[in-house]
Amino acid sequence: MNRRYRKTIIAGNWKMNKTASETRALIEELKPLLAKAKWCDVVLCVPFVDISAAIKAAKGSKIAIGAQNMHFEKSGAFTGEVSADMLTDLGVKYAIIGHSERRQYFNETDETVNKKVIKALEAGLRPIVCVGESIEQRDQGVTMDNIRMQVKIALKGVAAKELKKVVFAYEPIWAIGTGRTATSSQANEVCEGVRTCLRELYGARAARSVTIQYGGSMNAKNAAELLAQTDIDGGLIGGASLKAADFTQIVEAANQ
Ligand code: 13P
Repeated sequence: MNRRYRKTIIAGNWKMNKTASETRALIEELKPLLAKAKWCDVVLCVPFVDISAAIKAAKGSKIAIGAQNMHFEKSGAFTGEVSADMLTDLGVKYAIIGHSERRQYFNETDETVNKKVIKALEAGLRPIVCVGESIEQRDQGVTMDNIRMQVKIALKGVAAKELKKVVFAYEPIWAIGTGRTATSSQANEVCEGVRTCLRELYGARAARSVTIQYGGSMNAKNAAELLAQTDIDGGLIGGASLKAADFTQIVEAANQ
């Protein structure tokens, strides 16, 4: 973390978990627990159908609500899809873009990620852009090549003044849902690499104000060490965001 230059953001990615009533219950449980979280922003990225319930339940608290995906077109014949304007109209502030599960199971590419980033920014949503390498890429020593490509394509056509609204999440695919977290130095090395790439594209001032999260089996036990690294400015948390006590401990670690 480096609070002088950028905001720490702890975001939960609930994935395909929780009904609307479970959403209300979890947020009601979290609200008093998170009331003291002064130094970081807290976001919950919930399933589309839970968004209204989440926004209502989070009212008056510091929890912002995010989506887990969105379509890149404004409107039209795209059965089953949800547009950025539909999300902002409900009060959604963030949208996860290009999560590895979407890339893997729903054919998302760097190009669709780019289109979604552009549309999210146009609509006033802050994109949380996920990048990360497979275990094969890590073993072959091409982690940073892959990440740099993902970052560069995601940002094609994004103006410098828009950059600070973009959040990056470095999520090594091999660490997601596996209980196998990247070591804090592995994670920091890649987050630093993302920032170097941003510096090359937009200059040092712009690069240092971008929030770069780590995601992949982050939990109540390892959060403090990960967040203490120079270039890890928060977390994108899956499993541990579904339990109030665990998620609260991560938020507390970000407030140290
Ligand atoms: P886990 O925290 O369950 O490993 O999930 C990480 C993730 O994919 C967050 O987007």
